[in-house]
Amino acid sequence: MDLFTAVESRRSVKHYDASEPMPEAEFERLIRATMLSPTSFNIQHWRFLRITDPSLRTQLKAAAWSQQQVEDAAELIVLCADINAWQDRPERYWADAPKEAREILVPMLTDFYQGKPQLQRDEAIRSCGIAAQTLMLTATAMGYGSGPLIGFDTEQVAELINLPEGYLIGMMIVVGKAAQAPNGRGGQLPVSEVLFENRF
Ligand SMILES: Cc1cc2nc3c(=O)[nH]c(=O)nc-3n(C[C@H](O)[C@H](O)[C@H](O)COP(=O)(O)O)c2cc1C
Repeated sequence: MDLFTAVESRRSVKHYDASEPMPEAEFERLIRATMLSPTSFNIQHWRFLRITDPSLRTQLKAAAWSQQQVEDAAELIVLCADINAWQDRPERYWADAPKEAREILVPMLTDFYQGKPQLQRDEAIRSCGIAAQTLMLTATAMGYGSGPLIGFDTEQVAELINLPEGYLIGMMIVVGKAAQAPNGRGGQLPVSEVLFENRF
């Protein structure tokens, strides 16, 4: 599937065929592709929590306004981020770069985030957003439906998944074979309302 077809055909799928699992090799391919998403300074903040325990799924569904896709989709991923990844052995993010580049970039990224908690959090959220879209477009290209979810009680979910200190939850993402085609699009704004030139 070419990229335009994936972009144009991706929709948030709400109804999944619970009897259709995702083969392990395909899941791994999906995650590996998602990990090619860009992150500022290559920090790779994202932490993908794959929920495979059926009873945890049921509990997460209850915390997510009883949205049935949380239980039925082949895969449920709680997309989290480590807000402090910028200071966790940052030389790893440039391990394969030439030494001279690494010696410039690692102190630069530390200076960039040091003492700026809002920026650290914004960056983690940005990284989740980009990764989420990569994941969903890749799933589309692989013939799967997907959907992002933020309709859940964050505190309850954080407790259920033992969210570590310093992590945030970006969103949940469900992936699986669609049982029902999505409804028509909700309503697209005109380009003129969202595209600007030079200044607002
Ligand atoms: C961050 C985010 C959270 C969302 N949360 C939910 C959700 O909890 N439940 C749901 O049914 N749809 C959810 N959606 C899906 C949106 O309603 C959907 O993306 C939007 O209506 C556009 O439709 P489309 O994705 O099919 O193009 C969410 C979308 C985003 C981006």
